Parts: sequence; structure tokens; C-alpha cells
Amino acid sequence: MRNESPTPQSIQDEEDFLTCVHAGLRKHPKAIPPKFFYDAHGSHLFDLICTTPEYYPTRTETAIFERYGAEMAKLIGTSCVLIELGSGSAIKTPLLLQHLANDAVYMPIDICEPHLLHSTHRLQAMFPAMHMQPLCMDYTRIPAHALKNYAARRQVIFFPGSTIGNYTPEEAVLLLKHAAQLVGNNGALLIGVDCKKSPERLNAAYNDADGYTAAFNLNLLTRMQCELGAKLDVDQFAHYACYNAALGRIEMHLVSRCEQFIRLGKETFQFEEGETIHTENSYKYTAHEFQQLAHMAGWHLKTTWNDRDGLFNVHYLNLSDTEPRHLSRQAR
Ligand code: AVJ
Repeated sequence: MRNESPTPQSIQDEEDFLTCVHAGLRKHPKAIPPKFFYDAHGSHLFDLICTTPEYYPTRTETAIFERYGAEMAKLIGTSCVLIELGSGSAIKTPLLLQHLANDAVYMPIDICEPHLLHSTHRLQAMFPAMHMQPLCMDYTRIPAHALKNYAARRQVIFFPGSTIGNYTPEEAVLLLKHAAQLVGNNGALLIGVDCKKSPERLNAAYNDADGYTAAFNLNLLTRMQCELGAKLDVDQFAHYACYNAALGRIEMHLVSRCEQFIRLGKETFQFEEGETIHTENSYKYTAHEFQQLAHMAGWHLKTTWNDRDGLFNVHYLNLSDTEPRHLSRQAR
């Protein structure tokens, strides 16, 4: 049953870019979902964001996996099926895979096919004996049969990078419910969640001095030009990111610098000066808030690991509330 070279299974996403942009520009306020940031160039820009001094989440989470990867592997079970949602470059994944057994199965799922293939090949080269089964699709639409070959194994959803923060709390509960249904009673969830912290620190992380976050946000407009033939002037939009403390989230917008139009096929979308396209939310949760959220989806928090500054959490959850709860662990 072992595939020597991983071949992704492409599943047509019916809610494609054009449909979502059309629907999003018709909304009041205008909004386009953040998953469309991640074409090849956008995925590359995201990797550059992760190298900036201001964007702390990636390096902080990496340090947590470096320190506690072995402990995490023991808890999730070293012969599990690890299903990574939105795997991207999967930079942190080896920190966990190195502690799993050779008969573990790794199933990365990502919407960006070049990125998915490239990172799976890189990981396969690092762990030649491990079975890897990449799946190119929107991870919110994983069909139940995707895991049918692995019914006998413990299925663990791996969702690092605080991507859960891109969803509203209501959507996050639905996604976590979907994850719970997918993995069955014995399943588990290992998830990275960015914490609430000072607005200064949060605002800096989404307004890096190198301008990678701005380029990442504006790349959405370039994609609309190149892939959809949209008529627009990228220079007439500005990157804007700000922490909304009342809602506990960073909001990213593309702000229209003037009164203007975007033309898309036969439609014309008007912008007032200062009007925005809301492109991303990035919710921040305390450990307790996340525990409550996950609980509404049927998950029980077992262990939380964090960094010494309390910037970022990695949570381990399962679906049974009978096991004793481990103490929270903190790097010292
Ligand atoms: C990958 C969704 C976690 O919200 O911090 C980084 C994406 N956006 N800078 C985040 C992102 C702007 C990132 N996530």
C-alpha cells in the first residue's frame, strides 16, 4: 500500500476564486476570504513574513515543538495517521515527524499544489520509510472517505500556525466539529493557537518594516488581475492591519486610496475613498478561551505547552473526558 512518490489527489473546489471574489465584492462591507492569499507567490511571501523580527508566532511555535516534540509524539501515539491541515511549507512538521515511528502515516492537506508537492517531497526525503499521502484541497471540505484506508490507526489532526485564528469563533467551532467527526472516537487534535497580548506587539507583527505583510495582502489584487482579468490599479490600494481589542482579532484590509472602480467581467464594483476589502481576521485566544471554544465542538483539552513569554500555545485535545488532565507545561 506504500506509495514511493507521493501523488496528490486534486479535488475541484467549487467555491473557486472567481465565485468568491464576485460574492465578496458584492458584500457590504466588502470581504474576500484569506485562503486566496496562498497562490505560489503568496505562499512564498508568507514564508518571508515568518522570517521577519516582528512576526513572532512562527519562531515561537517552532521553539515549542523543538522542546516538546518528543512528549507530543508520545501523547498522540507514535504510529498514528497525522493529518496536517493547511500544511504549506510544513517547516515545523519534521520536529514532530522525527519522533514518530516509521509506520506512521503523514497526510498533508493544502490548497496550493506546488507548495504541497514541494514540501511533501522534502519531508519524504527526510523520512524515506514513512508513508506520505498528500491531498490537494480546501481542508474545510475533507470528505469522510479520505481516511478510510487508515481506519485501524489513531487519527490525529495537526493544525499548527494558529490558522484557526482565521475563522470567527462560530466558524472555528464548526471546523473543530468537522475535525472531530473525521477522526472518530479515538482521534486527537494537536493545534497551535496564538495568544492575546499587547496591541503594540500584535500590530507590529502584521505591519513588518520589510513590507512583506503589505505585499502579501496586496498580492490578492495582483491575483485578481492575472487570474480573473480584473481591471484595477493595485497602487491605489493600501495595506492596513490593526488589532481590534473588543473582538480579540487582528483585522487586515485593503483600503481604497481614492474613489475608484474594480471591473470584473461585466460587473463594476465601486469604492469610496477609504472603503476597504476585509481580507483577513486573525483571532487571538487565551488558553481558557480556546479550551471553551474547543469544548463546544466536543474536544477535551489534555495538555497545553507554551513559550516562556506566553506568546503562543500548542494544545493537545482528545474526544474522551475520562483521562486525567495533564498539567500545563511551560518552557523555562
Ligand atoms: C497563517 C493565518 C496564522 O493570521 O498570523 C500572517 C497569516 N497574515 N500575516 C496569521 C498572516 C498576515 C497568519 N496565519
